[in-house]
Amino acid sequence: MFSRIIGTGAFVPEKTVTNDDLARIMDTNDEWIRSRTGIRERHLFEEDAKDKTQTAAIKASERALVMAEEKGLKRSDIELIIVATCTPDHAFPATACVLADRLGIGSAAAFDLSLACTGFLAAFSTASAYIGSGMYKNVLVVGVDVMSKLLDFGDRSTSILFGDGAGAVVLSGDERFRGSCESGVLGSIMRSDGSRAGVLSCDSIYKNEDRGGVLHMDGRAVFEFAVREVPKLIKELCEGVGSVPSYYILHQANYRIIEAVAKRLREPMDKFPYNIDRFANTTAATIPILLDELFRSGRLREGDEVVLSGFGAGLSLGAIYLRL
Ligand code: COA
Repeated sequence: MFSRIIGTGAFVPEKTVTNDDLARIMDTNDEWIRSRTGIRERHLFEEDAKDKTQTAAIKASERALVMAEEKGLKRSDIELIIVATCTPDHAFPATACVLADRLGIGSAAAFDLSLACTGFLAAFSTASAYIGSGMYKNVLVVGVDVMSKLLDFGDRSTSILFGDGAGAVVLSGDERFRGSCESGVLGSIMRSDGSRAGVLSCDSIYKNEDRGGVLHMDGRAVFEFAVREVPKLIKELCEGVGSVPSYYILHQANYRIIEAVAKRLREPMDKFPYNIDRFANTTAATIPILLDELFRSGRLREGDEVVLSGFGAGLSLGAIYLRL
């Protein structure tokens, strides 16, 4: 059975923080941030908001479910919920279990997984493998991160890069395409290199209720890793599938990374949609937030071929070739 996206949803908190706002609390400026990263603004939760991760996950999921329901899905048809997050509100229960209850899908199987910026890719490929095996037919996949829990606004080289947000997709097995390659996940590759774990890390996310430890990053090493490894992985994936997609939907970490990947793939920038300028890096949420924008604007349509690619802490990376 092949997996098809039948619903998408996204959520970011109301508060917008511009580069100029950051320049008021640290030694930075709009020109530096825009030219090095492509980011103009990000959305962050108010510091005293409660249950930030759950709130974002619920809101994005509600929107994805409404879209899926318009296509005939019943909420009770969801059999599995997977939440990718590295910033859950608690060590346990899993965000996915709370989400199941709050969405009125109380009996669904539910678990979280953690792979930071590659988390959504891991959750999506896990969901499609379950669907492919015939074990589950309808799966809600959520990428959510509240990076403001981990940011040190005294560190200008990391705190300017991230935002808070959530994105969700409903993946559904389509039996019409059983045994054919008409639709769904045509290829998927996931890789990791734990020998470089220290390049991007956070010691703890549970220092107290609202704040975790602090994110540490060797920005240049992450940049070079992404620019070198992501195009190689995408090339390998596309050669395996034997096709070239209409769009490459990359993890939104830095506009310059997206440009460099496009250049190495010898593909034009208009095949690389982006929204990092408005949301910054929302970690596990960047890809589903962008997918939601592209579906809702009509830029992505049934039959289009796309590559999704995520990369980040681990170090880890992944790419999925999808026919929508
Ligand atoms: N505002 C102004 N100056 C800043 C700054 C800021 N926000 N952050 C750093 N600088 C300064 C540095 O202190 C340094 O100054 P110095 O030369 O006087 O020491 C200078 O700018 C250059 O810093 P450098 O770190 O070499 O910049 P860079 O060109 O490598 O860009 C990143 C830094 C973080 C933007 C870039 O490395 C990057 O985006 N890496 C990838 C990070 C990422 O995407 N992580 C998540 C992956 S999932």
